[in-house]
Amino acid sequence: MAQIGYSEKVLEHFMNPRNVGTIEKPDGYGKVGNPVCGDLMEMYIRVKDDIISDIKFKTFGCGSAIATSSMVTEMVKGMNLDKAMKITRNDVADELDGLPPQKMHCSNLAADALHEAIKDYKRKKEVKK
Ligand code: FES
Repeated sequence: MAQIGYSEKVLEHFMNPRNVGTIEKPDGYGKVGNPVCGDLMEMYIRVKDDIISDIKFKTFGCGSAIATSSMVTEMVKGMNLDKAMKITRNDVADELDGLPPQKMHCSNLAADALHEAIKDYKRKKEVKK
């Protein structure tokens, strides 16, 4: 499988994605589309004391999108929001031991949907004040 350019970690997350699904009444929700391929990603977060206590995703994306989302959910569970906001697609790709260059656009979905979910949480918190 390595000859198609995917690291073992990418393949492993693609075959056994973590945190797939939705969260009922999430504290934050993000949805983004990928302008390159038209695929979609949805991210749901539960927040406690500014820490991401739970996170789930659903995607209509390719294997790389699944692997990067799975990895990003593992990276940010238990992380505080400000730190999670700074996670870039390169951080996610690095954590997966790299993605083929033509697949880097897929990792946008995971990072962007996460950031949108955090922004949604912050927006809702402002409204409640
Ligand atoms: Fe669309 Fe990868 S090809 S997310």
